[in-house]
Amino acid sequence: MPVITNIQDLKRSYRRHTPKMFYDYVESGSWTEQTFHENSSDYADLRLRQRVAVDMTGRSTASEMIGQPVAMPVALAPVGLTGMQRADGEIKAARAAEKFGVPFTLSTMSICSIEDVAQHTTKPFWFQLYTMKDDDYVSRLVERARAAKCSALVITLDLQILGQRHKDLKNGLSTPPKPTPRTLMNLATKWGWGREMLGTKRRQFGNIVGHVKGVSDMSNLGAWTAEQFDPSLDWDKIAKLKEQWGGKVILKGILDVEDARMAAKVGADAIIVSNHGGRQLDGALSSIRSLDPILQAVGDQVEVHIDGGIRSGQDVLKAIAMGAKGTYIGRAFIYGLGAMGEQGVTRALEIIHRELDTTMALCGERDVNKLGRHNLLIPEDFSGRWQA
Ligand code: GLV
Repeated sequence: MPVITNIQDLKRSYRRHTPKMFYDYVESGSWTEQTFHENSSDYADLRLRQRVAVDMTGRSTASEMIGQPVAMPVALAPVGLTGMQRADGEIKAARAAEKFGVPFTLSTMSICSIEDVAQHTTKPFWFQLYTMKDDDYVSRLVERARAAKCSALVITLDLQILGQRHKDLKNGLSTPPKPTPRTLMNLATKWGWGREMLGTKRRQFGNIVGHVKGVSDMSNLGAWTAEQFDPSLDWDKIAKLKEQWGGKVILKGILDVEDARMAAKVGADAIIVSNHGGRQLDGALSSIRSLDPILQAVGDQVEVHIDGGIRSGQDVLKAIAMGAKGTYIGRAFIYGLGAMGEQGVTRALEIIHRELDTTMALCGERDVNKLGRHNLLIPEDFSGRWQA
């Protein structure tokens, strides 16, 4: 195996090991994929200020997200179907996160269930909630997350209907995959994946199958979202959910200043500046370009986190220096998981940590909590000059 030195190496290995249908699911944005690509490429427009002759001994990347200690301000984002990227994927990723000391967020659309992940980990994880038309089911999900001792509820606001990802439709994405000739031919080349998958019972949406009725095709994410997700979600419903949960709440999918203000008003503990990894509203501004106006508007009222496009410790540093209190990686940890299982997630975290630590030193900083705009060269029109 070639020496793995960065996240792109993990991605290449992930691609070789993973059935096309699941690789494409992760490596897609909606429609033209403009926002998906710009989420990453816009980080390059922020530059770093090199500082020298500063004592760089005793560095620390330790910080806090929603008052919880983190080894670095990088959480694992919720990713649907993680357990299809690699058998028992959510358990493997949660364990790697726990050992590293960063939060793991379990998706509603996970393969391993909340209870299963709780049983195989020792520290609380975060649970990401999609709101559904079936209020009882949502209430039960919230109670299940509470029973599993989840330490935050991450409510996703930007996916009440699904943005179209062409490849998923063309591939007939489903879990488990349907045995069409094309899929079978592809699976035949991924024998390591298949061997592990045959060795686990976890091959369906674990939080859903057996817990709800009335879905025409349980294996199809598109059918599930179209039939079950609640298109009438509004701020009143969010406030009620927050009340029902009673614990820490993170609102995910905020890209607009007005929405950030509403999120602060309902009393969220944190918001995630996010466009769902470019998978929903194609043509929306990248997360990193959206961050500053939101910080200016609500940065003193609510903790501001960010996801989308982060593939390196340098990206993490830039987001934190801009003012985010925390960041999330989705694809970057999935590449590691698909490439090497739990070890690969650990590797992804190690790579990002080392990049963050070394880059911090080269910027003349020793403490991640001291990073700030003084470390960046920000183009004057970075957040865009848009007409009012
Ligand atoms: C679901 O969260 C997706 O983006 O596919």
